[in-house]
Amino acid sequence: MTFAVLADIHGNSFALKAVLEDMARCGVTRAVNLGDHVSGPIDPAGTADLLLAQDFVTIRGNHDRWLTEQAPADMGASDKVAFDLLQPAHLDWLRALPATATYGEDVFLCHGTPSSDVTYWLERVEPNGVVRPASRAEVEREAMGIEARLILCGHTHLPRVAQLERGTTILNPGSVGLPAYDDDVPVYHRMQTGTPNASYAIVEGAGRDRTITFRSIPYDAEAASRMAAGHGRDDWARALATGWHEP
Ligand SMILES: [Fe+2]
Repeated sequence: MTFAVLADIHGNSFALKAVLEDMARCGVTRAVNLGDHVSGPIDPAGTADLLLAQDFVTIRGNHDRWLTEQAPADMGASDKVAFDLLQPAHLDWLRALPATATYGEDVFLCHGTPSSDVTYWLERVEPNGVVRPASRAEVEREAMGIEARLILCGHTHLPRVAQLERGTTILNPGSVGLPAYDDDVPVYHRMQTGTPNASYAIVEGAGRDRTITFRSIPYDAEAASRMAAGHGRDDWARALATGWHEP
C-alpha cells in the first residue's frame, strides 16, 4: 500500500496545493494527515476547504484542539487569527477529529506522541533551550503499548525517521506549511528545517519492507510569507520565506 503522510499544514494553502500536485505527479492517491491543519496567519479557511475535499484519514493536533476548546480571548495569536477567519463548518470538522487513529493493519497515527499532542517525540528541549535528538531510551518509552509496525507523528515540524528495537518504525514527515517556529514551552527554543520548502513523506510497501521517501517541495513561499506579513506576523513571514526562525 502506497500513501502520503502530511502533518502540520498550519493554514498554508500554498504549500498544501504544491504537495497535492506533487502527490498527483507521483501517482499517490491515498494520504493520512496528522494535525495542526489551519492554525496561523496565512489562509486557514482556504486550507480547510482544500482538506474537506480530500478523502484523507485525519487526526487533530494540539492547535486544532485549542481552536475548538479554548475561548477566543484565551487563544494564542496564531490560533486567534485563524479562528477569526474560519467558518462554523470548519470548526465543526476540527471538533469531530480523533486524537489518534489506526490506518490499514499496522499503522498508528498520532500528533505528538500516542498519549500527548503537545509532547515532542524524536526531539527534546534542554533547559537552556537547545534542541537535541531524543535518546534511544526516550524514543522507546513513548512507544510502549503501541503494537503497530509503523507509527506516524508530527508536531516538531522536523522530518525524521527512527527504528525501535522491536523493528517498529517511527516517522515524522516534517511540516507541509511551517518550516520554522519558536515556542516558549517548556523553555524558549526554535525549530528550524533551514529550507522554505514544503515537507511530506511517501510510504510504500508493507510490514518490515516499507520504503519511506521524504519529499521537499518548492512552492510560492513568498506568497505565503506576504499573507503572514499582511496579518502582522513578520516572524512567520521570515520563517516561511527562509525556513529559519530569526528574531
Ligand atoms: Fe503541533
